[in-house]
Amino acid sequence: MLITLVVANQKGGVGKTTTALNLAASLSAASRTVLLIDLDSQGNSTSGTGEEKNEASHSLIDILLNEGFPIEKAIEQTKYKFDLIPSSVDLISAEIELSSLPNPTSLLKNKLSNMQASYDYVVIDCPPSLGMISVSALRAASKVLIPLQCEYYSLEGLASMSKTLEEINEATGENIEINGILRTMYDPRIRLSREVSKELEEHFSEQLCDTVIPRNVKLAEAPSFGMPALYYEPEAKGTLAYLALAGEIINKFESNTNIY
Ligand SMILES: Nc1ncnc2c1ncn2[C@@H]1O[C@H](COP(=O)(O)OP(=O)(O)O)[C@@H](O)[C@H]1O
Ligand SMILES: [Mg+2]
Repeated sequence: MLITLVVANQKGGVGKTTTALNLAASLSAASRTVLLIDLDSQGNSTSGTGEEKNEASHSLIDILLNEGFPIEKAIEQTKYKFDLIPSSVDLISAEIELSSLPNPTSLLKNKLSNMQASYDYVVIDCPPSLGMISVSALRAASKVLIPLQCEYYSLEGLASMSKTLEEINEATGENIEINGILRTMYDPRIRLSREVSKELEEHFSEQLCDTVIPRNVKLAEAPSFGMPALYYEPEAKGTLAYLALAGEIINKFESNTNIY
């Protein structure tokens, strides 16, 4: 059964791309078939797999805007064990074009629902905003994963994310919720980080991932070599943390996934 994991947070720099990329690598290392979709026009997930951002390709736009365009046409193989739909620069203009459609955010969901037999996981890296592109991804999600840094504003960000999801649900009739909260770039030496982490444990125990991603320079270096950390430095703490996260996701989500 296909599990669509959507990695979202309206804030930039919280570890969405690092999480999407390294989860795709880690889940595929656990013998799951994986498709990574880079919905951020910055294309960091795309370059992190060593692929070029395809300047000429309109594939992602066609997936989002053109009902007759099959998703399969946009899929590329990477050097690693997972496939990729690369980012495209015209994602920026897609936000505007989408707003003129009658059902602007439902195409991705419809198209992914036809991919049940093709992959075990689709991992979607979202842009740092909650515009129509992110809403399209969230509507297609079987599970929503929110990476966050344990900082002062993180809890507020989480509250506003929950509120936005409620609004989307009201407008679309979906039942989207936050299924996983992931602590990223965690440094236990920082007191505030420990405190925010404790707050998360108290108030979001159900959604909070047991796995904590440590601040680890190997995770930051790997993309500049076009590699997920697993291939760049397999023994690094950050690599091992993302492998553990994949294990946690497999245990938690493969046993209780809503079919859509
Ligand atoms: N656990 C980590 N340890 C060290 N650096 C990290 C870690 N996670 C992310 N980074 C770095 O932090 C920056 C922002 O991360 P990124 O995944 O691009 O966030 P987002 O996609 O939310 O904008 C990047 O330079 C990335 O390499
Ligand atoms: Mg990103």
